Amino acid sequence: MMAAVIAIAGPAYAGGVNRALAPVDVPDTMAERMKPCVACHGREDRMGRDAYYPRIAGKPEGYLFNQLRNFRDGHRYYRPMALLLANVTDRYLLEMAAYFAALEQPYPPPERVVSTLAEIKLAEKLINHGDTARKIPACIECHGKELMGTAPFVPGLLGLPRVYMSAQFGAWRNGGLMRGQTPDCMSEIAKLLTPEETNAVVAWLAAQPVRGKMDPADRLSIEMTKRCSSIIEQARLRP
Ligand code: HEC
Ligand code: HEC
Repeated sequence: MMAAVIAIAGPAYAGGVNRALAPVDVPDTMAERMKPCVACHGREDRMGRDAYYPRIAGKPEGYLFNQLRNFRDGHRYYRPMALLLANVTDRYLLEMAAYFAALEQPYPPPERVVSTLAEIKLAEKLINHGDTARKIPACIECHGKELMGTAPFVPGLLGLPRVYMSAQFGAWRNGGLMRGQTPDCMSEIAKLLTPEETNAVVAWLAAQPVRGKMDPADRLSIEMTKRCSSIIEQARLRP
């Protein structure tokens, strides 16, 4: 497994040792070079075997780039990816982000989740209306009316494994420097939600069929842009 995983060498990162692992007669295309990534982020999404791998195909390019850089620079922790991305240049990370942003892949079916009516109502209230008194904006304000994300740096929330989303919320609540930036709008929101609210929302999201595509007309309001300013600044730092 690790041998295959290390073979993402591209022109931007000509590691001679890694390159030697690639079969000689394979065409040097992005699809070939990204095969080690697709082993985990592939079409089948390994939903049955290990429901933890997040989907990356079709996510906003700026978001993917930020995350790849977070993994490479140690602001998000996942060792197999850190190893793969070590010494990869920003330019090549951007190329990967663009490749996966443009990739169309079928979504997994919704997860089977058992929620009470009260939990469903709670989730729908937070997702569509937030909680003004506690300064929690509706999820759709940033993640888009269809919950499919807002270009260029807010990801969609449908088609993601429930355990993956729970883990992200856990890290945002408890983590010190999760995903690198402070202030981090998502981490602030995660800290405002109770564990019951988080569980209800995550269960609801995982149980939805994917509704469509990101609406390119969706934009963050000035207020939401301010809340997430650190991430926007990070997204601007292009090579
Ligand atoms: C061994 C399995 C594995 C491999 C190989 C792998 N990933 Fe990942 N990837 C994961 C897991 C697990 C996470 C979630 C980690 C976490 O908990 O934050 C992740 C997260 C991501 C994310 C963030 C997704 C999001 O929605 O925030 C991106 C982007 C990503 N991977 C891209 C890649 C790319 C590009 C490659 C190839 C260079 C790659 N991954 C290789 C397992 C893998
Ligand atoms: C103020 C804007 C804003 C609001 C409101 C918001 N989010 Fe987010 N969310 C973001 C941003 C920005 C990111 C990307 C974080 C990063 O780049 O590190 C994100 C990321 C996420 C992710 C990670 C997805 C992935 O692929 O890893 C999840 C899950 C999430 N948000 C859930 C929610 C839920 C549920 C709500 C409503 C309770 C919500 N968000 C409300 C801005 C927002």
